[in-house]
Amino acid sequence: MIHSTIVLAWKFWLSLTLKLKKHVYNTEAKQMKTFIEKMPKAELHVHLEGTLEPEHIFALAQRNGIDLEYKTPQDVIDAYDFVDLPSFLKIYYAAMNVLREERDFYELAYQYFEKVAAENVIYVEPFFDPQAHTSRGVEFSTIIDGIHRAQIDAETNLGVKSNLIMCFLRDLSEASAIEHLDMCLPYLDRIIGVGLDSDEKDNPPSKFSEVFRRAREHGLKLTMHCDVNQKDIGEHMWECLNDIRVDRIDHGVNSLEDDAMCDEIVKRGIGLTVCPVSNRFVVQSLTANEIRSMLQKGMKATVNSDDPAYFRAYMNENFIALQEEGDFTKEEILQLSRNAFEVAWVDEPQRQVFLQALDSYAADAA
Ligand code: ADE
Ligand code: ZN
Repeated sequence: MIHSTIVLAWKFWLSLTLKLKKHVYNTEAKQMKTFIEKMPKAELHVHLEGTLEPEHIFALAQRNGIDLEYKTPQDVIDAYDFVDLPSFLKIYYAAMNVLREERDFYELAYQYFEKVAAENVIYVEPFFDPQAHTSRGVEFSTIIDGIHRAQIDAETNLGVKSNLIMCFLRDLSEASAIEHLDMCLPYLDRIIGVGLDSDEKDNPPSKFSEVFRRAREHGLKLTMHCDVNQKDIGEHMWECLNDIRVDRIDHGVNSLEDDAMCDEIVKRGIGLTVCPVSNRFVVQSLTANEIRSMLQKGMKATVNSDDPAYFRAYMNENFIALQEEGDFTKEEILQLSRNAFEVAWVDEPQRQVFLQALDSYAADAA
């Protein structure tokens, strides 16, 4: 009798402790989520074409008289079956065929700005891929006018500032990249830098050394994708650093395999724009351990969404997924946000304004 009473009391105490632990855990998770959602953030790695939502694909197809092979936006999402970079890119390029007119590009960019404004993103450096549109007969001016108008409206109406980065597609020729650099020259005041994206396999940075040299001469900043676990990634990263002399690297997670490379990246203060949820789709890992290692080494790692409409995660969802997986502290989360403002391509007074906004947020939240 005494024995069974003790067992019952023990079981009761155990379940109470477990419930309490669960409650504390849920409360902490909720607090961390709110902390991330309200934190001022900058996004430095997002492809505007990668923000094309399925509902928008449908609306544009209808307006522009384009037949789609899908019946509903959900059918589009169901077709998102990415296992690696090429399988993602195939769907990404096919969908953007609905973008034709200036207002299509305006809507694309403005809808993205609206989404991130609601997530307390206050600064963005979005990419666009002009070659993916001019190759379909869309004028360069149509693309850049639409995006630029959205940038102005986003700053005025939503308080989101932005600077645009023009990307070259690395699976096309350097001659085509040069042609597009020439096209952007009349719009140099609308572009902050150039990047390199698309399929990295057998398309090394050195293939584009001339166009990047010319871009630098025109005063543009330089960045390049070094996607995770790509063939020859170590060589590609050294070419970025030593031949192209980039200002930033997109992704760059594989740098952790080479101590000398990490040292060089730290020494030069080069930012790494990591995209956790994108990585989970393309290389089946959120790279949480890698991001923590970067922070520990003093590398300027940042969190970004890459192609949020496809990976179904904008900035907050990326931060929250990362925090949950890696149990990141508030200090680490703040450091990731601070890194983005520190490596952003803005002038020093503007950088200080952003950093002060983050510092006062941290002080209030402490
Ligand atoms: N273009 C759009 N998204 C990309 C990615 N994640 N990697 C390379 N090129 C891209
Ligand atoms: Zn990218």
